[in-house]
Amino acid sequence: MPDNFTKEGIDMLKDNLDLCIKKPKYYKAFVAIENKKVVGFISYGDTYRRGEVIKLEWIVVSKKYQKIGIASRLVKKVEDKIKKYNARIFWVDTLDESIKYEPYVAANKFYKKMGFKKEVVLRGFYNSNTHQAIYVKRYRK
Ligand SMILES: CC(C)(COP(=O)(O)OP(=O)(O)OC[C@H]1O[C@@H](n2cnc3c(N)ncnc32)[C@H](O)[C@@H]1OP(=O)(O)O)[C@@H](O)C(=O)NCCC(=O)NCCS
Repeated sequence: MPDNFTKEGIDMLKDNLDLCIKKPKYYKAFVAIENKKVVGFISYGDTYRRGEVIKLEWIVVSKKYQKIGIASRLVKKVEDKIKKYNARIFWVDTLDESIKYEPYVAANKFYKKMGFKKEVVLRGFYNSNTHQAIYVKRYRK
C-alpha cells in the first residue's frame, strides 16, 4: 500500500501503528485480509476521556481492492466496537475536497457516504491553498 503515501506520510503512519502496539489501551487497528495478505487497514485512538471521543487516524485500502466496500466494512467494524464503549463522537481529519486532488476528493466522498458531516474547515492548515476538513459523526449528546 505504500503507493498511497509520501515518505513523510509513511513515517507518520509507522508512528501511529507503533502506538497501537505500545499503547493498545488507547490506539487500535483492524486489518482486512485477502489470501493471507493485508489489503486494507484502519487505525483509531481515544482523544478525550476513555472511549468517549474517538479519532479515526488512518484508513487505507490497496488500489486493487478499492471500491468493493472494504473501507466501509472497516469503518463499521470500528463503529460497532466504539459504540459498545459508549462513544459520543467519532471524528477524522483530511485534506479538504476544495483542493480538487482526486484521492482526497474520493476520501471526502467516502467520509460523507459513511455518514460523517463536515463540521470544520481549518483554512491554510497544510499551506495557504490547502485546507483541512474535520468530519464528525455524533452518536449521542
Ligand atoms: C478512501 C478509501 C479508504 C476508500 O476505500 P474503499 O474500500 O474503496 O471504499 P468503499 O468501497 O467502502 O466505498 C464506500 C463509498 O465511498 C465512496 N468512494 C470510495 N471511493 C471513491 C472514489 N474513488 N471516488 C468517489 N467516491 C468514492 C463511494 O460513495 C462509495 O460508495 P459506493 O460504492 O456505493 O459508491 C480508499 O480510496 C483509499 O485507500 N484511498 C487512499 C488513502 C486515503 O485517502 N485514505 C483516507 C484519507 S487519509
